[in-house]
Amino acid sequence: MPDSLRGRSSCVFTTIAAALLILAGTVFPLDAAAQLPAGRDVAEVCKNCHADRVETYLATKHGQKGNQRGPDCQTCHGDATEHVKAGGGRGVGGILGFNNKAIAADRKAAVCLSCHASNRHLAFWDSGRHRKNDVSCNNCHSLHGTPGLGSTIALNRPNPSVTPYQTTVRELQYETCVSCHKQIRSQLLKPSHHPIIEGRITCNDCHNPHGALSRAMVKSESIPQLCTTCHAEKRGPFIWGHPPVEENCLTCHNSHGSNHNRLLVEKAPNVCQDCHDARFHPGTVYDGSGGWNFIPPRNNVPNTRLIARGCVNCHSQVHGSNAPAMRGKFFLR
Ligand code: HEC
Ligand code: HEC
Ligand code: HEC
Ligand code: HEC
Ligand code: HEC
Ligand code: HEC
Ligand code: HEC
Ligand code: HEC
Ligand code: HEC
Ligand code: HEC
Repeated sequence: MPDSLRGRSSCVFTTIAAALLILAGTVFPLDAAAQLPAGRDVAEVCKNCHADRVETYLATKHGQKGNQRGPDCQTCHGDATEHVKAGGGRGVGGILGFNNKAIAADRKAAVCLSCHASNRHLAFWDSGRHRKNDVSCNNCHSLHGTPGLGSTIALNRPNPSVTPYQTTVRELQYETCVSCHKQIRSQLLKPSHHPIIEGRITCNDCHNPHGALSRAMVKSESIPQLCTTCHAEKRGPFIWGHPPVEENCLTCHNSHGSNHNRLLVEKAPNVCQDCHDARFHPGTVYDGSGGWNFIPPRNNVPNTRLIARGCVNCHSQVHGSNAPAMRGKFFLR
């Protein structure tokens, strides 16, 4: 296009844009916006160009009229006077765009923390792995609601969110998490897995995504404590306790998913033989001599210690037992 026409066409566009604004029912005269209205009324100015954003925002908990302590556009996006004067645009007028990668994650989080810092869930935000890796609040939370599933911001799934639409939406919270944590996603698809994709438990039943001092930001001080909040029957104390169970469930189990039954880290009987190998009968599992037989000569029936659940065929109470005498001591059924 020749230079002479360029100015003309942009002029035409401006005229068309202005005409469109009038057709759409301009809510607030832009030329009067040198002095932006205070508080929530500022939305009337923004509506001229961001009608969809205003609408989705007003439907959230933050935007609800009754929510007097909630924010207006400028508490989150900063002073918009210059932005409006200049006719808007990305990064124009020092506007704080949360999708603008040039703006530090901490600065974005600071906006939210100015109101939410005292929330007990956020007590360890500063020391959490997310903050330290430049993940910010808006990477998980959708601040403008997500009408329908076609969210324009892939990371922001409807739940968790401040959206009023969450009850009608099928997507589950874990989807937000696994959009970044791909390895965890693949663990969830293994044959044995915690029922997360089934929607029975969520990632934050076990983790505090806002940060925690514990290993892997889990919600409890120790692993057995975490697991027994749901699996209470494994808590004990038992008359006959099994030391590795009291110490750490993850010695034998994966937390997300596994190719072995019951979330086991390896196949039975290997999971037992890691520790019990040099002893009396356990040490004989792989000697090829067959059957369950304490006293030689051994017969040649298949070795019961290798069938199906392996050692657990007999030692079914591996998590601990209150049964009397030998049955209890050796975790037998
Ligand atoms: C509680 C904080 C908060 C409030 C209040 C808020 N926003 Fe936002 N806004 C965000 C966040 C976070 C994003 C980026 C994530 C998203 O798109 O949901 C965003 C995105 C936007 C975008 C798109 C930016 C882009 O990168 O394309 C516009 C435009 C916008 N907001 C305008 C508004 C207007 C207008 C209001 C007032 C009606 C408002 N916002 C109120 C937090 C807020
Ligand atoms: C005259 C039109 C106009 C008005 C009025 C206007 N904006 Fe914008 N704004 C824009 C345009 C154009 C963009 C660039 C958006 C895009 O490319 O999608 C933008 C971008 C933004 C962004 C994203 C900035 C970034 O760097 O990513 C935010 C946030 C925003 N506006 C907030 C507001 C708020 C809050 C108000 C009301 C106080 C407002 N705007 C009023 C036109 C306007
Ligand atoms: C001006 C103060 C203020 C700011 C800034 C603010 N919030 Fe809020 N937020 C509130 C209030 C008030 C509520 C409603 C709390 C209530 O009803 O108990 C709320 C509620 C929430 C909720 C819970 C919504 C629900 O459905 O229960 C989330 C999540 C949230 N805010 C996240 C954010 C994020 C992320 C940011 C930054 C982008 C942010 N907030 C910025 C005041 C604020
Ligand atoms: C890694 C993802 C993630 C990040 C990052 C994140 N959140 Fe959340 N947030 C969640 C999840 C998941 C929940 C739902 C927790 C629940 O239901 O117990 C939640 C819940 C909340 C709530 C409601 C808590 C309540 O009292 O019920 C607030 C407020 C909140 N987040 C604010 C923030 C703020 C502020 C930031 C940034 C400093 C932030 N979040 C960063 C995932 C995240
Ligand atoms: C925007 C991307 C992103 C999202 C979304 C996200 N995370 Fe993260 N997460 C990270 C990064 C980056 C790290 C730090 C690097 C790492 O350990 O992989 C991290 C670390 C973690 C850790 C600590 C790992 C460790 O070794 O200590 C846990 C646990 C975690 N995230 C859980 C969650 C949960 C639960 C959610 C959803 C509520 C979530 N994440 C959503 C990016 C994300
Ligand atoms: C049943 C409890 C539980 C659930 C549910 C759970 N996790 Fe974990 N997660 C753990 C435990 C325990 C660890 C610590 C593992 C370790 O230290 O070996 C962990 C570790 C992690 C780590 C650190 C990296 C790794 O593989 O060790 C990330 C990241 C993580 N989880 C993300 C998630 C995400 C995302 C979800 C939801 C899809 C989720 N977790 C659901 C218990 C759980
Ligand atoms: C929030 C509750 C919750 C927590 C915490 C929890 N689990 Fe589970 N776990 C479940 C549910 C629900 C099932 C599925 C039970 C069913 O299908 O009957 C399950 C199943 C299992 C199974 C059997 C899996 C299979 O394939 O049959 C094992 C093993 C297990 N959990 C171990 C653990 C360990 C180890 C921890 C700690 C890292 C833990 N759980 C923490 C809720 C939880
Ligand atoms: C020494 C290894 C070991 C340790 C440590 C261990 N488990 Fe297990 N667990 C097993 C084996 C083996 C099975 C499979 C039992 C079967 O096939 O009947 C199992 C099965 C389970 C099951 C599913 C079947 C059932 O009995 O309900 C749950 C739930 C479970 N374990 C939870 C836990 C929890 C919680 C902890 C920590 C407090 C823990 N386990 C520690 C070896 C272990
Ligand atoms: C991390 C190491 C470890 C693993 C893995 C382990 N155990 Fe143990 N087990 C121990 C320790 C330590 C004792 C206590 C030994 C003692 O008191 O002499 C014990 C005790 C026992 C006892 C009672 C023995 C006695 O003399 O009182 C039996 C039976 C047993 N384990 C079976 C199993 C089975 C079956 C498995 C696999 C599901 C298994 N163990 C996995 C460490 C382990
Ligand atoms: C067919 C049933 C059966 C199977 C299978 C079995 N055990 Fe045993 N186990 C027993 C009985 C019964 C005792 C008590 C023996 C005694 O009277 O000394 C015992 C004792 C033990 C002891 C304590 C005595 C010792 O030798 O230290 C350990 C440890 C043990 N078993 C581990 C295992 C392991 C590991 C496996 C799998 C490789 C396994 N058992 C498979 C029945 C079985």
